[in-house]
Amino acid sequence: MRHHMQSHGGLTSIIAVLVLVLFMVLVRLSITWWILPLRAQRKLRKKGFGGPTPSFPLGNIMEMKKKSNVSEVSSLKQLMTHDIHSTVFPYFAEWQKLHGKVFTYWLGTEPFLYIADPEFLKNMSVIVKGKDWGKPNVFKLDRKPMFGNGLIMTEGDEWVRRRHIITPAFSPSNFKEMINIMVESTKRMITKWVDLTSSGHAELDVECEITATAGEIIAQSSFGIGPQECTKVLQKLRALQVALFKTNRCVGVPYNNFMYPKHTLEAKRLGKEIDELLMSFIMERRKSADTRNEPRDLLGVLLQESHIEDNKRLKKKLATRELVDECKTFFFGGHETTALALTWSLFLLALHPEWQKQLREEIEEVVGDKEFEVGMLTGLKKMGLVMHEVLRLYGPAPNVQRQARGDIRVNDVIIPDSTNIWIDVVSMHHDPTLWGDDVNEFKPERFDGDSHGGCKHKMGFLPFGFGGRMCIGRNWMMMEYKIVLSLVLSRFSFSLSPNYCHSPSIMLSLRPACGLPLVVQPL
Ligand code: HEM
Repeated sequence: MRHHMQSHGGLTSIIAVLVLVLFMVLVRLSITWWILPLRAQRKLRKKGFGGPTPSFPLGNIMEMKKKSNVSEVSSLKQLMTHDIHSTVFPYFAEWQKLHGKVFTYWLGTEPFLYIADPEFLKNMSVIVKGKDWGKPNVFKLDRKPMFGNGLIMTEGDEWVRRRHIITPAFSPSNFKEMINIMVESTKRMITKWVDLTSSGHAELDVECEITATAGEIIAQSSFGIGPQECTKVLQKLRALQVALFKTNRCVGVPYNNFMYPKHTLEAKRLGKEIDELLMSFIMERRKSADTRNEPRDLLGVLLQESHIEDNKRLKKKLATRELVDECKTFFFGGHETTALALTWSLFLLALHPEWQKQLREEIEEVVGDKEFEVGMLTGLKKMGLVMHEVLRLYGPAPNVQRQARGDIRVNDVIIPDSTNIWIDVVSMHHDPTLWGDDVNEFKPERFDGDSHGGCKHKMGFLPFGFGGRMCIGRNWMMMEYKIVLSLVLSRFSFSLSPNYCHSPSIMLSLRPACGLPLVVQPL
């Protein structure tokens, strides 16, 4: 009996301890997920930032989802218009009408400051320099399988160190060697198009074709890997992108991973497989050659930097794990964006045969029958105008993100520490108050003699981001863009297929949701 009472007493105290622990966990969680975000929200409201009212624990996610679904249906019926902001970001377009161009909204329990006002952005970026910006922790975690801790995600001194190591890889002196690779890959694609068109296939999915070629180019010119290995990585990257971005609308909601366990595990598995593939390429390169005499492709430069042994510069070394993350970042960031810029260009050129003609004449004049060389790139001036106009209307990077590390005072308002910042590039690029009434028309000439395209504000045109963190690969992209476009335009003419359905949508980048079927005719 006494023994029974003793064990009963023991059980009661275990339950009491468990209840206490559970209570403490609940208190802790409600502080992190509810009380702290609520306090942050009050702070932002007090500083005069309006915005839609969030609910716990989803924030404004449900409203965003609802508006997206309506927009998806209506966009299919939509006329072919370049006024795409309300299609790709319907919730932001609605909230702007109510709360202006700077307001707060919530992804789960994460506060975001939305900015589509270049003047506000300028004032903020004058105060905070590249090194002092954070990247939203919530995305860093979510996108880890894709970017790891590569340059795009690092912060502070670590970002300075990486940017310093990587910058030489993008110096124009390295570009000469890249040109041949770009030309050869594009020529292979052209041969395939010639075969297809001569066997009766007048219609091609140009997005698909260009993406494969851009992948091949980045794989070979930056890591020296061939088409077959490249296809393996690209297939996995694409699957990873689908697993991450078709389902991640609940990012910011505590434990949202458990809402999509299948996709979360799938993303982790794919991320690991890509790491292993890249790791094997790196190991092979390390073994196979004296890296000091490597060709100066991206991996060559990174390996060379990691060979610097003297004590002063030892800190510059990149560990193999870091190399993998950088390779992954370039693989993904380097081919998809460029491929999309080319894809949207061919779409707009298909709608504007008069610009196809002008570009063809320019190519004939500048390149003619000669082999491509670096000096020709600046000569392709009209092509540069077209490129800028495409990056304005259909820029592949639809937004730029930051996170405040410390309070930021902008004029008389304070953006509290840890606030996430979402800069709506699509909105600014389509804002008639910045560009005029012809904002949604394709007019490359607006960039003639004006690198801001006549935009009333210097921060209103941001295809490659801003400040010290601006895209490191933009010159590389411009070179690839001009080479690929010159080669295809001088061999084919393009017009829109009746099967094309205009549905620009966001899956990390801005892409045509149903591809880009074009009628391709050899010249
Ligand atoms: C049309 C093509 C491209 C577009 C639209 C684009 C756009 C961007 C944008 C918007 C950013 C963020 C900037 C910011 O946060 O302020 C960025 C960063 C970056 N891009 Fe690009 N990019 C393109 C091509 C490339 C290429 C070809 C590469 C590499 C081969 C590349 C590598 C990177 C890297 C590594 C960063 C991170 C830089 C840092 O945080 O220091 N991008 N890009």
